[in-house]
Parts: sequence; C-alpha cells; structure tokens
Amino acid sequence: MEVLNLKNISKIYKDGNENIEVLKDINLSVNSGEFVAIIGPSGSGKSTFLTMAGALLHPTSGSIVIDKEDITKVTDKQLTNIRLNKIGFIFQNAELIPYLSVVDQLNFISKIAHIKEYETNNFKILKSVGLEKHLKKFPNQLSGGQRQRVAIARSLVNNPTLLLADEPTASLDSKRGIEIVKMLQTISHQQNKAVVMVTHDERILEFVDKIYKIDDGNMTQEM
Ligand SMILES: Nc1ncnc2c1ncn2[C@@H]1O[C@H](COP(=O)(O)OP(=O)(O)O)[C@@H](O)[C@H]1O
Ligand SMILES: [Mg+2]
Repeated sequence: MEVLNLKNISKIYKDGNENIEVLKDINLSVNSGEFVAIIGPSGSGKSTFLTMAGALLHPTSGSIVIDKEDITKVTDKQLTNIRLNKIGFIFQNAELIPYLSVVDQLNFISKIAHIKEYETNNFKILKSVGLEKHLKKFPNQLSGGQRQRVAIARSLVNNPTLLLADEPTASLDSKRGIEIVKMLQTISHQQNKAVVMVTHDERILEFVDKIYKIDDGNMTQEM
C-alpha cells in the first residue's frame, strides 16, 4: 500500500530578493513495509525534503499525499492531526527533553496525542529497542546510541504509518550507527511501516530497500 507520494514537488526559499530553488520537480512513492534512504551532500535539500514529507513545511508547488490524504489541500488543524496520528519523526541529535526520564519522554507524547492507557504499550516499545533497564534514567545519563533508541521509541508511540528520520546516525560511531539503522529496518519490515531516512552516511546503505539521490535539486533512484 502506498503511504507517501510526492508529485512534482519544488521548493524555493526566498533570501532577500534572491530566490533559491532547493528542490526541482521531485517525484517519489513509498509503500508500507519499505525502508528508503535519500542521500545527498550537506546543503542538497535533504532536510527540506523530509520536513515537507512530514507536513511541517509547505512545498512551493506540487502535491504530497500521505495515506490517501493530500496534505497540501487540508487546513492547519487537519495537518496537526495528520502529524499526531500518522507520522513519527527522528532527528539527528535525538532532541529529547532534558528533564524527563526515558519512560516519560514517551508518556508525554501519549498525553499530547490523547492516547489512553498508554503505559503498557510504551513499556513494550521501550523493551523492543532494548531500553527496559533504563526507564528511569534521564537523557544525560545515557550514551548517544541509547538516546537515539529513546528517540526511535518515542517516534513509535502514536503507531505511525510513516516514519521519517533525519540523519539518525550522524552523531554515532559505526557500530552504534549500524545498530540504529538495523532497528529502523526491523521496524519497517516487521511492523509494515514506510520508513524514509535521509543521510549522507554511506556505511548504512546496505540495510535499505531503495536508495534515492538528491543532486542539484533533482532526485534520482540509485538502487
Ligand atoms: N529557511 C530557509 N531559508 C533559506 N534557505 C534555506 C532555509 N532552509 C534551508 N535553506 C537552504 O536550502 C539548502 C538546503 O538545505 P537543507 O534542506 O537543510 O539541506 P541538507 O539537509 O541536505 O543539508 C541550503 O542551501 C540551505 O542553506
Ligand atoms: Mg539536513
């Protein structure tokens, strides 16, 4: 089933009186159970692309369909609901809340998303990423790899159909980076989620199903 479809997407940033066309006529389709990597050098528009796919930034033109809904045609309130119910985000530096324990990082999201009786489920999610012994720890008591596993767990709280990861391994060494990517692969294949990861980390590409490259504003399939 198709979860994400971008059609003729372009993005122009205005910088003073200059227009910068970062992405030109991008087309992409991602199905459930598919683990896709988007590669490209720094500044090529990877984060711009992912932020649009995650309904956080409007494209200049084109359409984006998430789970059969054209998000370029809905109200801001509907957009917020789509983000809360269908999308999970993982960032490069985990972006955890410093004063919340591991388990509360997840519970906090459950409350925002109005999920009921979340405790058992959140424990299961934390167990699935190997964090069951660290529930009460705070972010500064965890390693980089553990923090990124909390970020993955947190992104799963709302059981999203689409999981988006922006350079999730960039601040990790090879071993921890591969651990994280294998985890995303397992989530994609076993839970039948569409997972899109942008990266310039070539070490991890053997774990994905498809690779697309952004170059000079254009996107082409590499594998
Ligand atoms: N809000 C913005 N306003 C103007 N230019 C931006 C903005 N965000 C990003 N850019 C520019 O767009 C280009 C792509 O940025 P980005 O999507 O962050 O690339 P990547 O994630 O691949 O490093 C860069 O040249 C960046 O400077
Ligand atoms: Mg980026």
